[in-house]
Amino acid sequence: MPSYLVTGATRGIGLELARQLVARGDAVIGTARDPDHADALRATGARVEALTVDDPASVAALGARLAGTAIDVLVNNAGIGGHGGGLPDLTAAELHRYLAINAIGPVLVTQALLPSLRAGRLRRIAHVSSLMGSVADNTSGGAYGYRASKAALNMFNRSLAHELGRDGFVCVVLNPGWVQTDMGGARAPLPVAQSVADLLARIDGLTAADSGRFFHHDGRELPW
Ligand SMILES: NC(=O)c1ccc[n+]([C@@H]2O[C@H](COP(=O)([O-])OP(=O)(O)OC[C@H]3O[C@@H](n4cnc5c(N)ncnc54)[C@H](OP(=O)(O)O)[C@@H]3O)[C@@H](O)[C@H]2O)c1
Repeated sequence: MPSYLVTGATRGIGLELARQLVARGDAVIGTARDPDHADALRATGARVEALTVDDPASVAALGARLAGTAIDVLVNNAGIGGHGGGLPDLTAAELHRYLAINAIGPVLVTQALLPSLRAGRLRRIAHVSSLMGSVADNTSGGAYGYRASKAALNMFNRSLAHELGRDGFVCVVLNPGWVQTDMGGARAPLPVAQSVADLLARIDGLTAADSGRFFHHDGRELPW
């Protein structure tokens, strides 16, 4: 049975990933910032582990707890959204926060879990990014922190694809679409179950030729 680790699995896309993976018989470790408030995740049947992605000590502790545990697929899903304001509203603290959670966190999680991923058979890493991280797609501006953090995540993925590809890893960036979650809001067109079914179809079908690339949930390749 393949094993998955999904970050940010307390709600939204991460929770639905845990639900669908457990339902089809896969082993899932879902992470929560506060495992005492992760009842929905626990109810899926997933194993719950504590992780705050922008806290390097928390990331290292997860790696240490999982030493000796093989993980086939890592889904770096945890993230924060929000559009923020324009240039006059930007603060260094807020921009650092986006980068720490949406970009630096995932790459450090990958680093910490590498021994577990090397022990797995599938060697797949999927980053849940956003079309808003596409420079080519930025036709309206705004969302400085979010856009830049997802663009940075996309670049981290490409470097990981090069470095880890030598050892048979496939590393991709996936855009889930505009999804009905706390982050996406009620006006989002895509039910979370549909987005996640699509994301799992992408992850299931990954080949070496996909590594380093950026895909929409429906399988279309997206521009950087
Ligand atoms: N929804 C959309 O329309 C959409 C579109 C494009 C991309 N995405 C991307 O999809 C991913 C999931 O989004 P979502 O819609 O499911 O969001 P969501 O409903 O807001 O859930 C976000 C998840 O990330 C966790 N998280 C937030 N900050 C964290 C941190 N510092 N450390 C660890 N976990 C943290 C949250 O944990 P807590 O419960 O503890 O807060 C929660 O489990 C994100 O990377 C997002 O950027 C979403």
